[in-house]
Formats: sequence, structure tokens, C-alpha cells
Amino acid sequence: MKHKNIILLGGSGFVGKHLAIELAQRGYNVTLPCRRPHRLNELKVLPSITVIKANIMDQAELTSICKGHDAVFNLVGILNESGKNTFRKMHIDFVKSIVKSCQTDNIKRLLHISALGANQASGGSLYLRTKGEGENLLHTFGQNKLQVTSFQPSVIFGSDDSFINRFSGILKLSKGVFPLACPGSRFSPVFIGDTVSAMADTIDDPASFSRRYPLCGPETLTLLQIVEFIKQAQQSKCKIVGLPNTLAKLQAVILQNLPGKLFTMDNYRSLQTPSTCENGVPTCTTSFSSYIKGLPHLFSRRPTYDELRKQLNGK
Ligand SMILES: NC(=O)c1ccc[n+]([C@@H]2O[C@H](COP(=O)([O-])OP(=O)(O)OC[C@H]3O[C@@H](n4cnc5c(N)ncnc54)[C@H](OP(=O)(O)O)[C@@H]3O)[C@@H](O)[C@H]2O)c1
Repeated sequence: MKHKNIILLGGSGFVGKHLAIELAQRGYNVTLPCRRPHRLNELKVLPSITVIKANIMDQAELTSICKGHDAVFNLVGILNESGKNTFRKMHIDFVKSIVKSCQTDNIKRLLHISALGANQASGGSLYLRTKGEGENLLHTFGQNKLQVTSFQPSVIFGSDDSFINRFSGILKLSKGVFPLACPGSRFSPVFIGDTVSAMADTIDDPASFSRRYPLCGPETLTLLQIVEFIKQAQQSKCKIVGLPNTLAKLQAVILQNLPGKLFTMDNYRSLQTPSTCENGVPTCTTSFSSYIKGLPHLFSRRPTYDELRKQLNGK
């Protein structure tokens, strides 16, 4: 194992937590710096994962905590801008900082998550353009002694994701009708287990240096189909109504000004770019529809007291 000691930046999120466990199981030592270590108690029990509190946005601190590692994995990303945390800062400037730290600390291996459809020149949204620019930057630096690999996943699903769970939560709250923006947007949802396995496979593989890997599941589904699957799994009676474009934009304009930014104009623009691997080979095998069907209990509502009592009494 050439790159035994790995530092995960952005490791406290959905993908990061799964990746940390996958790497630990494969025998890597993982350092996970984050802003709120108390939220990662489930990872702290694993002896090869070290969770530390750090401000990775500070260049000096970043360089200091990266020191002594063989590889850096960057998973930092945002879907919405907030205050000083702009797309440019998170997806481009931070990549420059990581490269600088790698150079100072003489770290030769850098892995990075971008997104499917990320494109510096023609990405449909600022999210996709900045993701594309950050990834390009990385590969440019990669030509100079740094061995770089990047991953471009479609939407990633798992029991603790923020995709299924978001729609599941909205469906539970919706009484009667759920107005869905961009129902025709296309995805090849990829399972979190397949995603982290594919990423971990490349760490010590020289064939992956300078490569960009799209990560897709085996199905291509519209957003409407995905939300219908979630609805069936939680046995919701809610009717899902696809919004026409003008109303979808109006929904984005309203929701982006409300706390939580459930949906923004930039999200709307991202959804205009297909997140699919139709022109490439799907790399991951777990199917979204089978996964959802296999986990109905996960999304179904809690039984009422009366229902439980009837079950217990065998009525
Ligand atoms: N999930 C998907 O479906 C999907 C699809 C394609 C690409 N991706 C990309 O995959 C990466 C990981 O996604 P995810 O779903 O795991 O996202 P996530 O759960 O939101 O995690 C994002 C990570 O970035 C960190 N971060 C964000 N802003 C930060 C800041 N200002 N300072 C320090 N850390 C900051 C978060 O730290 P805190 O925990 O402290 O907030 C967290 O560790 C992202 O780059 C995303 O764009 C994800």
C-alpha cells in the first residue's frame, strides 16, 4: 500500500463518512479534519480514523494538518452559496490552496470529487462551471509531479443521503399534491457503496493518474420517475404534479429567498444539464429502483398507536 496515510477534506459529509469507513476497512489510516467533530462520534470508534477539529479554509492550518500524509482526498463542495462561502471560493480557490499545501508538504497524490456535467466553459449553472474549473485546475497542476484523479458522480443515493431523504421529507409533509420542478431532468443515480468502492480502488492504481472517472448507476431515470419510486416506497398517497418551466423558475425564485434555500435558480439551471452516462459506460451496478423497493420500511410513516395495538392484539 503506497498511500497508507490519507487525509480527507470534506470528510464530514455524506460521501466523506462512507469513504472514511471504506478506507479504514481496506487498511488505510484516515485523518478527517472538520468544523464540528462532535457530529462524527460514530467514526471515532474506528481506531484507524482520526477526527480532528480544524479550519481547512486557512492555508497555514491546511498545510500543517496535511503534513505527514501520503495522499489528499478532497470532497468539499456546496450546492448553494451562503455569505462568504461562494462557489468560486469552495470549488476553485480551495483547490488552489490544496495544491499549494501538497507542494509545500511534498505530497504526490491528490484525489478529488467533481460532478457529472461539470464544465468550466459550458456548465449550465455556476455550480457546474466552478466544479469544472476546479477540476481542470487540478489536472493542470497534476501535470507537474502531482498524481491527480477526479470523479464525476451523477446523483449519489444511500439511506443517509440528502437526495432521497429530501424528497421523502417533502412528500411526508405534502398534503395531497406535490408540485415538482424540472420533472424531466435526467439522472443515472449511483449507489454510495459503489461510489466509495470505485474511488478507493484507484488510490494506489497508477493507471488512474490523470484520469477523470464518470460514476453512474445502471439506470437512467427522470426526476419524476425517481420521486414516484420514493413515493411508492413510503406508500404516500400524494399526487406528484410536474411543473412547467415558467412555474419551476417561479418556485426557484421564491424558495431561494426563504431560509434553508430548498431550491434556487442555480439548482434549476443545474437540472437543465443531464446527469447521465449515456455516452459512456455505467460504472456502478446497484440499481436505484431495486434499492428503493428493498427498503420500504426506511421511508414509510411510523405506525400510529392504534395500529400498533391492533398488530399486537393480532387484529
Ligand atoms: N451527493 C451527491 O449526490 C453528489 C453528486 C455529485 C457530486 N458530489 C460532490 O461530492 C462532494 C461530497 O458531497 P456530499 O454529498 O458528501 O456533500 P455534503 O454532505 O454537503 O458534504 C460536503 C463537505 O464539505 C464540507 N464543507 C462545505 N463547506 C465548507 C466550509 N466552508 N469549510 C469547511 N468545510 C466545508 C462539509 O463540512 P461540514 O460538515 O462542516 O459542513 C462537508 O464535509 C461534493 O464536492 C459534491 O459536490 C456529490
